[in-house]
Amino acid sequence: MKTTHRLGQSALEVGPIAYGLWRFVGNDVKAARTRIETALDAGMTLIDVAAVYGLDWGGTEFGESETLLGKVFADAPALRKRTVLATKFGIIPGVPYDCSAAAVVRSCEESLARLQTGTIDVLQVHRPDVLTHPAELGQALTKLRTQGKIREVGVSNYSARQTLLLQQFLDFPLATLQPEFSALNVEAAFDGVLDFAMSRTMTPLAWSPLAGGKLADGVSSADPAARRVAAKLDELAKAYGTTRVAIALAFVMRHPSNPIPIVGTQNPERIAAANDALRVNLSRADWYALVVAAQGKPLP
Ligand SMILES: NC(=O)c1ccc[n+]([C@@H]2O[C@H](COP(=O)([O-])OP(=O)(O)OC[C@H]3O[C@@H](n4cnc5c(N)ncnc54)[C@H](OP(=O)(O)O)[C@@H]3O)[C@@H](O)[C@H]2O)c1
Repeated sequence: MKTTHRLGQSALEVGPIAYGLWRFVGNDVKAARTRIETALDAGMTLIDVAAVYGLDWGGTEFGESETLLGKVFADAPALRKRTVLATKFGIIPGVPYDCSAAAVVRSCEESLARLQTGTIDVLQVHRPDVLTHPAELGQALTKLRTQGKIREVGVSNYSARQTLLLQQFLDFPLATLQPEFSALNVEAAFDGVLDFAMSRTMTPLAWSPLAGGKLADGVSSADPAARRVAAKLDELAKAYGTTRVAIALAFVMRHPSNPIPIVGTQNPERIAAANDALRVNLSRADWYALVVAAQGKPLP
């Protein structure tokens, strides 16, 4: 198991598991700081947020998760120095996608202000905006990078073809791509996205590696596929002497593109426990058995 990852071809080094802030809301800066400190102490040095985060989980203002993280950094500036800070732009409720040059620049400036930082380490396109020509987006991102407002660029929820197209309008390599990828949602391993990451030396960041909690220990989902996968994970957890969560995260990391799972728990003990996955060396047969459980039919 690799203990550090270089993000794509960039100079940024991060831990093998990342911490995500989709569910990071509220006004309790002390509790928020504990989560960030726990993640960093556990080696989860990449922190993934987005301009739109907060609204899905009871937040009342656009940018709430970034604002809360900014307050944590203001409270403890040393934490910012330990963080490889990744955020995203492009989702605007009611629009819903805008990656035009003006929108990208505005979103980046607003994120910098909310995060109380001078630079964003990885700025990611949250979802493809098919109404913006990639040449326009590429030019805006290049300008932000030249100005030092961002260090690297990534994409999220992009197909391999969309990623290639954007890359053609950048004179620096994209560092990361971020698909959904878990033992329940295995598509990225088969639809060319993880293959593309390997072909271009990009680092995959896997979102919802526990399928948003459906694969978490003790959870019994109504979704039949999730139930099949959870049952297989439990069987493997017993065999490997570990937890269901550890096997689920090990599944993500077992792919040769070296994906970094972004865990999303808000519970400090569970943040730290994610590292149990680093001790699991999942066999080839067990990895494919999980794919069979997810798909509900044997592989050809
Ligand atoms: N690019 C995109 O479009 C996109 C979309 C979605 C997510 N993401 C990224 O991916 C990150 C993770 O997504 P996610 O929050 O859905 O991740 P996840 O790790 O798949 O699921 C986290 C959920 O599982 C629950 N859980 C229950 N028991 C757990 C245990 N033992 N260990 C860990 N979690 C447990 C957590 O609840 P508790 O908090 O109560 O533990 C939380 O509700 C996000 O924060 C975000 O950075 C990106």
